[in-house]
This record gives sequence, structure tokens and C-alpha cells, in this order.
Amino acid sequence: MKESILKKLKLLKQEHISTYLQTLPEHEQQAMLSQLADMDFSVLEAAESAEQRGKFAPLRAVTLDETEKNRDYYTEIGLQAIRGGKVGAVLLAGGQGTRLGFEHPKGMFNIGVNRELFIFECLIRNLLMVTEQAGAWVPLFVMTSEGNCGETQEFFAKHGYFGYRAGMVHFFVQEQLPTVDREGKLMLAERGRLSAAPNGNGGWYASMAKTGMLESVRQAGIEWLNVFAVDNVLQRIADPCFIGAVIASGKVSGAKVVAKAAPEEKVGVLCLEDGRPSIVEYYEMTEEMRSSREPDGTLSYRYGVILNYLFRVESLDRTLSVRLPLHRAFKIVPYMTETGETVIPEEPNAYKFETLALDMVKLQDDCLAYEVDRSREFAPVKNKTGVDSVDTARELLRRSGIEL
Ligand code: UTP
Repeated sequence: MKESILKKLKLLKQEHISTYLQTLPEHEQQAMLSQLADMDFSVLEAAESAEQRGKFAPLRAVTLDETEKNRDYYTEIGLQAIRGGKVGAVLLAGGQGTRLGFEHPKGMFNIGVNRELFIFECLIRNLLMVTEQAGAWVPLFVMTSEGNCGETQEFFAKHGYFGYRAGMVHFFVQEQLPTVDREGKLMLAERGRLSAAPNGNGGWYASMAKTGMLESVRQAGIEWLNVFAVDNVLQRIADPCFIGAVIASGKVSGAKVVAKAAPEEKVGVLCLEDGRPSIVEYYEMTEEMRSSREPDGTLSYRYGVILNYLFRVESLDRTLSVRLPLHRAFKIVPYMTETGETVIPEEPNAYKFETLALDMVKLQDDCLAYEVDRSREFAPVKNKTGVDSVDTARELLRRSGIEL
């Protein structure tokens, strides 16, 4: 094994790792070699090239008004699906939350002011509202990563699953990919260990398959999975009205979207690309697309995604044989030098490789864009201060009548 790994490292121009490896005592070498053997190094070969995009066209959404008119109808369909055990929820909690700079899983962050209110608790409370209404549980799959799985599970257990039924919560761990410095060189995390990071939120379904979770999904007869981010504290999970609207539309997926506040707002917009549902990033839009308006005066590319999707399990299976595009993200990555010094950078210093959940939308035949009221459903906690921060999320929680 050693020979072939050293050969591979040479081929990939990563000889500094080979040199370091040889300085370790035998048993540490073995441990590092087995980490190296399991690592997917294809990311090092994947040159960063701009993805070829197709022809974009606007995609209309079920608007707030339309939903209001059909609320009872959609809600009943959604509740029936939940009662029939056909809906599962997937909490994406494997991220490292580097922008927030909180040294525990983001869900453990206390967003309360005069009392404790953890992000995980906010989410579970929202889910409990649905399960109480339905009179049925929704299986919850929690994606964690190597660095936070233990702490996340302990936290849920310590807090009695925030009132959720323990047997309905299933944790699984996503995969890792190596991180590289500015020069594309592999880095060390600590003595005898290569630096690696979670492989992005697009890996959730493949990780469910690998960890046996998908088997449970199939055995339980779950037909729909509602996947959502940990960091939106106003997140509505397994929302019966949304589920009902998607089922009634006959489409295989749905995305919660919010109307952009202004043309220049930096959010990914749900649209059509070569006739298929797709998300166009802010920086990929031409000025013309950004400012284009419909006859009624609204923006043509109007609906931003909030990382809350509903997928039909059957049509997700197809995605397992497809390689999602890899995105490079420049982040703060603490590391160890080859001489053994630990460095905790203040600024981004390294690239992580990530697949994104939004790229799964493109693999769907169709997708219902479902507008939600951003002041009621979108309060992301991304940064320490400023935009999408703890302060803005607290303000939005207060406005929604939640005591902090
Ligand atoms: P972000 O893209 O905000 O990434 O994740 P992050 O790692 O949490 O935070 P920053 O960018 O370092 O500050 C959006 C959602 O996707 C999940 C996150 O936990 C969050 O719910 N995610 C992200 C994963 O589950 N795994 C990943 O590898 C990345």
C-alpha cells in the first residue's frame, strides 16, 4: 500500500506529504497511510473551470396569494402524506460554520438572549408544530460530519431531543474531501493526519445511501424527503402546505423560494436552464437578467432559494450515479506545518471542495417554486455580525413573536 500511495502523491505533485510521512514512526505512518488510502484525491485533478451553462429562462412560482387561496386543500394533502408515513426530513448539519466562528456544531448556538434557545431547538419546535397538527411523527435524518457527529448526538441526547421522539431521529455522517492551500498543496490537520473537510451539502443523498439510511427510508415507505439547512432559525420543516402543493402539482420536487428584495440581492435564483429546473447564482446572471421585468413589473428572475427542498425519493435514486459538480470554497482552515506548529488563520487561507444541494435540483425533471414570506420563514445565521447574522436572526425571531 505504501508504495502505491507514494507513487500517487508523486503523480499529484504532493511529495511534501511523502517526505513528512517518512519522518513519522512506523505505527503513525500506518495510520496516516490508511487515511490516505481512503481519501478521494480526484479533487486535486479536477481543474477549476467555469461550468458550461445552458440557456436560462424565468420560472414562475406558486405565489403567496395563490397558496392562500388553496391553503386548506394543500395542507390536507400534505397532512395525509405525513400521516401515511410518506414524508421524512433531512437536516443538513455537517457544515463547519466557519463564518460564524462558533467552535461547536452551529445547531448548538444559543440564539436566546434572556433564556437558552438553541438553534437545534428552534428547528425541532417548528417540526413539532407539524407533528402535533398531523398527529404523526416525521422521521428526522440528521447529517453530521466527522468533526461534529459526536457532539451533535450528545447534545440532542442531553436535551431529550428537544421533545422529539428519540427513535425518530437518525444521525449519519457525511464524507470528507481533502483541503488544499493556495498553491493546491495538501495540508496537515495535526500530527499524522491530513487536513480534510466535509464534502459539501450536495453529498447528503449519497451519504444516506452509503450509511444505510436510505435502506431505512425505503423500508419505512418514505416517498418524499424535505431537506433543509441548520442555520435558518425560522425554517418550516415538513410544512404540510408546501408538501401538499408539490404533490398536487404532480412535480417530482419543490423548492421554497423568497421574492428578491432588490435586483442586486446576492441570492441564487430558481429558474429554468435548457428547460430544466436550475439555480443561477447571482454572479452568473447578466445585467439584463438581473434587471429584466415581467409585464406586471415584477423581476423576471425573482425567486431566491433558501435551502429548503422537497424531493421525491424515486427520482433522487437516479442522482446516485451522477457526479455532482465540485465547487471550490475559500475558507479559514486551521492547520499544522510540517515542522509541527499549529496555525489558526484569521482570514481564509485554503480551499475546500464541496458539492451543493442546489445542483441536485438540476437533475430533477421539474420543480415547483413555492413562494414563502421571508419575514416568517427566512432568518439565516451565517455571520458573526452584519448581514445574515445572529443579530438579524434575533430580530426576525422577535418579529415572529418568539421570546428571546
Ligand atoms: P453553508 O454553505 O453555510 O456552510 O451551509 P457552513 O460550512 O455551514 O458555513 P461556512 O460557510 O463555513 O460559514 C449551508 C448548510 O449546509 C450544511 C450546513 O450545515 C448548513 O446547514 N452543510 C454544509 C453540510 O451539511 N455539509 C457541508 O459539507 C457543508
